[in-house]
Amino acid sequence: MVNLSPHANGKGFAMRRKLIAGNWKMNGQRADGLALTREVMAGAKAVAAKADLLVCPPFTLISEIGAALAGSGVALGAQDCHAKVSGAHTGDVAAAMLADVGCRYVIVGHSERRTDHGETDAQVNAKAKAALAAGLIPIICIGETEAERDSGKTLAVVRSQLKGSIPEGATAANAVIAYEPVWAIGTGRTPTTPEVAEVHALVRKESGLGPDLRILYGGSMKPSNALELLALADVDGGLIGGASLKAADFLAIAKAAP
Ligand code: 13P
Repeated sequence: MVNLSPHANGKGFAMRRKLIAGNWKMNGQRADGLALTREVMAGAKAVAAKADLLVCPPFTLISEIGAALAGSGVALGAQDCHAKVSGAHTGDVAAAMLADVGCRYVIVGHSERRTDHGETDAQVNAKAKAALAAGLIPIICIGETEAERDSGKTLAVVRSQLKGSIPEGATAANAVIAYEPVWAIGTGRTPTTPEVAEVHALVRKESGLGPDLRILYGGSMKPSNALELLALADVDGGLIGGASLKAADFLAIAKAAP
């Protein structure tokens, strides 16, 4: 039987392969982006038994990096998409355009988009829906601010973001959730492992997407803390910013996967 799940393990039961995803954010020009890609590709075989690798370059590099990645087993993704299929939306990019240049994934609802562009759960939901319609796997991002954590609202915030951001039609086979505490992004700070475990368990339960759902942790993940985070029962990979810009660190995180 052909297993059509993008997370197929060929074994027909719940076994989530780790996904190590690099979110390059607004970094990289052609030369350094291609050099980074080649270094990641060179190390990909050595980590293939541990994790799936994904790189999400800025829009300008997607096409060229997609061509470089062909046949490498390293997947390609984008950092955002528009909710509409086409039309008068200056500066925006539709999900089908991303699929057309080889993307398999698209990040939606990153906290930097929610902050910089005022994106709401409803908009994130619409973007994720558009991604699904284009055959892309949305990586739907959620996470609390520092003030929300300090006032004991983390679980309530995450619950409400999940409810608002996951579109109809999402399943464990076609969508990924990333938990990224806003205060941990680019700060070198991370929640404690029990705090991460608590949120990831809640995401699995409240998302309604079941035991096969891949839930990534993001926020200052690096080689030195990757093992303790990736060893948690409901942490199925990482969404990595800063450390994904150095191939050695990105690969070391994948290698750390248990
Ligand atoms: P850092 O790894 O730089 O903290 O960024 C995390 C992130 O925002 C990934 O999407």
